[in-house]
Amino acid sequence: MKFPEAPNPTLPGKFITFEGIDGAGKSSHVDWLADWLRSRGLSVRVTREPGGTELGEKLRGLLLNEEMHLETETLLMFAARREHLAKLIEPALAAGEWVICDRFSDATYAYQGGGRGLDRHKLQVLEQWVHGHRQPDLTLVFDLPLEVARERIALANRHLDRFEQERAEFHQRVRLAYLERARLHPERMHVINSDRVIEAIRKELEQIVSSI
Ligand code: TMP
Repeated sequence: MKFPEAPNPTLPGKFITFEGIDGAGKSSHVDWLADWLRSRGLSVRVTREPGGTELGEKLRGLLLNEEMHLETETLLMFAARREHLAKLIEPALAAGEWVICDRFSDATYAYQGGGRGLDRHKLQVLEQWVHGHRQPDLTLVFDLPLEVARERIALANRHLDRFEQERAEFHQRVRLAYLERARLHPERMHVINSDRVIEAIRKELEQIVSSI
């Protein structure tokens, strides 16, 4: 009699997402955290949303530059996400890799929900459809006062995308939506005070990530 093969002993990878208002400085910590994890022997994939796949990056170009209906914008965010999960995130996690993603669905709740006022129930339906089975293991929300974030963006002196060009009130609503979401999901979301020296932020990141 033949017994079925033993299951693959590879541990599943972890899914970490980075969030925050534009100018919160999160992206500068993504590569650092990836290197820190790699130095501990882990295999790490770094990716972003909208984007992360060939099709997703094309959708990103449209989303960041073309005017469109709010629901079109939301559906395209989730369409890019569906592709991203199927082509990159799920296969990497299944292979035991860690995935660090610069923004995920919390951004849709914060920007399209909080910032633009889209009904949360519609977001919940799309979230359930696209990744009801998958949530980040850890979400780091980089937070700082709006004025500091706006100053950082102004100093960068580059072309601003459609979201960055929005008025201060929009970004304030996005910030509050992130903080509210972090309050509702304390099991996976951590708010990081991003208005500090980089060393202090990294020390806190090490502690939080070590805990998972
Ligand atoms: P990034 O500049 O952090 O790469 O993000 C691109 C912009 O896309 C940022 O301004 C936030 C916005 N965005 C949304 O509005 N909804 C989303 O679901 C995602 C992933 C990003």
